[in-house]
Amino acid sequence: MIDLARVRADTPGVEHVAHFNNAGSSLPPRQVVDAVVGHLQREAEIGGYEAAAERKHQWEHTYDALAQLVGAQRDEIAVIENATRAWDMAFYAFPFRSGDRILTGHAEYASNWIALKQVADRTGARIEVVPDDDSGQIDVAALERMIDDRVKLVSLVHVPTQSGLVNPAAAVGRITRAAGVPLLLDACQSVGQLPLDVDEIGCDILSGTGRKFLRGPRGTGFLYVRRELIEQLEPPFLDMRAADWQPDGSYRIRGDARRFENWETYYAGKVGLGVAVDYALALGVENAWGRIQALASRLRAELAEIPEVTLLDRGAVLGATVTFTVADLPALEVQRRLASEHINVSLMEAASAQLDFGPRGLDQVVRSSVHYYNSDAEIDVLVDAVKRARTSRA
Ligand SMILES: Cc1ncc(COP(=O)(O)O)c(C=O)c1O
Repeated sequence: MIDLARVRADTPGVEHVAHFNNAGSSLPPRQVVDAVVGHLQREAEIGGYEAAAERKHQWEHTYDALAQLVGAQRDEIAVIENATRAWDMAFYAFPFRSGDRILTGHAEYASNWIALKQVADRTGARIEVVPDDDSGQIDVAALERMIDDRVKLVSLVHVPTQSGLVNPAAAVGRITRAAGVPLLLDACQSVGQLPLDVDEIGCDILSGTGRKFLRGPRGTGFLYVRRELIEQLEPPFLDMRAADWQPDGSYRIRGDARRFENWETYYAGKVGLGVAVDYALALGVENAWGRIQALASRLRAELAEIPEVTLLDRGAVLGATVTFTVADLPALEVQRRLASEHINVSLMEAASAQLDFGPRGLDQVVRSSVHYYNSDAEIDVLVDAVKRARTSRA
């Protein structure tokens, strides 16, 4: 169980806003803010390199915390500035050739798709989109039928940016594992929201971000790469963190996942990310998930009562994100009216979700996303504000 009073007391932001943009960036707990500010302060006092050396145990701990969070070993973790670059560092390391097939799904994230397309255009590999099943999640049986020897990678978004869907990652992992095809899991929206274990899922690579459901600092992310795969993947960029310059002019790429990192890094953020993961682990991600699901289903049920509201999330399992439109009121206007009452939601546009919104004719929708620290009173405030927004058309 989550002690709501305690987690809200830990979250200064709840005094200022009803924050339903956790899928964008959560309100961090003060422990995270204190850790980041404390490190920056120390850099100012004694110097950046000196602060990093003094607090090495803190930023090194971040690898242990992330490994524990996803069920990995610390040498399988790289800390990278965001989930996109983490995903890229692994994806661009695959040596695709003409005729190779890469499978993805309708939940694919815009930046991932753009990278897939760039590589497909350069190499002659083909991207194929696995259909959804009737519930709206990836069709696992169709995926199984599509696998053959030419499939070199399956890219799956666990929880998309644009909806509450939770894709059946473990069912996909069973198929990719049996076929010996690497599974690249984008866990950007799921990490911190729901329990994750790379072995239970059977994914080989996983990317995540700090600022969303982990409640860490912006500008932080991470990558997990399964031990056996690390040395097979030559990062697209190498520097003196990733490799050692040898006297004969050659270089040696390091053997752990830090080969995907780069030398200069945001130490304060790295320390803060570790504190955020510790906070999530102490609370229990299982507990967070229980409360998130309860809050999100309540929000869905109450919005469903409003005749002008159309709820858009599809899937057998739904999580924190609740997307909707309000008849005759552009999503931008809904967001603007809520913001004027200090209620944060965000917008999702087709450009972020072409494979999902395109076929459904969706252009722009309101994305609200709960976290465990949201209160029932805040849900009331949001629902009430949506009711008022639809009756007071501009
Ligand atoms: C599903 C998904 N993947 C990847 C990303 C990119 O994460 P980052 O902004 O940390 O690079 C996002 C961000 O919204 C996302 O929702």
